[in-house]
Amino acid sequence: MILQEDIEKMTVTEEIRALKKEKNAVILAHYYVEPGVQQIADYVGDSYYLSKAAAETGAQTIVFCGVSFMGESAKALSPDKTVLMPDKAADCPMAHMADEETIRRVREEYEDVAVVCYINSTAELKRLSDVCVTSANAVKIVKALPNRNIFFIPDRNLAHFIAEQAPEKHFIYNEGYCPTHERMQAEEIRKAKGEHPDAQVLAHPECAKAILELADYVGSTSGIIQYATESAGKEFIICTEEGVAYELKQKNPDKVFYFTDTLPVCPDMKLVTLEKVLHVLKTGENEVHMEADAAEETRRPLERMLELAR
Ligand code: 13P
Ligand code: SF4
Repeated sequence: MILQEDIEKMTVTEEIRALKKEKNAVILAHYYVEPGVQQIADYVGDSYYLSKAAAETGAQTIVFCGVSFMGESAKALSPDKTVLMPDKAADCPMAHMADEETIRRVREEYEDVAVVCYINSTAELKRLSDVCVTSANAVKIVKALPNRNIFFIPDRNLAHFIAEQAPEKHFIYNEGYCPTHERMQAEEIRKAKGEHPDAQVLAHPECAKAILELADYVGSTSGIIQYATESAGKEFIICTEEGVAYELKQKNPDKVFYFTDTLPVCPDMKLVTLEKVLHVLKTGENEVHMEADAAEETRRPLERMLELAR
């Protein structure tokens, strides 16, 4: 039990740490949330890493510092746990950019089709899908599927990137996209390359094709961090959300990272603050609820992903 007189002397961070212990809670944070939140998290990573952490943690409460599809996935994977979202309004716009009607139509049209759902999607879309993927495991999973036809939802850019790596598959595309990654322009990368000729371009596959064509490496946020860390290069132009700069600099204090002039900032990820983390830990507000049947159906494509990615 934390005493009132002790609380009065504590900083927000200290209070979060004390409450985390008292409530047997863990904090999961995506690389795109603000550095202060990444610092107090028990697990920081990309969507794939965080989904594994949510499935495996022994803690009773998960505070998910990310957007709503991440909290929903955590709840589906660990239905007996309490999943709290620091800000319920933090929602990925791309997660909604596919629809049931189109999925049904594609299933009718193609006999041998797998509906492959990027984890950045609503629980409703996941339930209509055969398997989930993240940007870290998508190529491996699509290649492992027995089906020749792949209807990839919602992200068209990631779909085109995987299709290039898996030419044996026939892709059906959906018109979803990430507004944060699509805001970057190829012209900005050319300008940055002109200014920093020794810098390598590292891009997330949610970027448009014109940017991926200029990249030396394409991968998930963890992939980008790993590539920069292991590379002998000293300068990098980073084409993904600017929150990764914190981990990039932590791991590589002697290297330089440039971003595009139109700084890629995901407004939803930035809704998560330390004060809101503290608030939900104190009050239990913003809990993710999911009916048992819905959780089971949402878990099915997520568990298939974890199985196939192993
Ligand atoms: P990853 O975490 O798979 O790199 O995806 C980035 C993203 O957009 C998360 O919202
Ligand atoms: Fe969604 Fe893009 Fe934000 Fe990721 S960066 S949560 S894909 S809007």
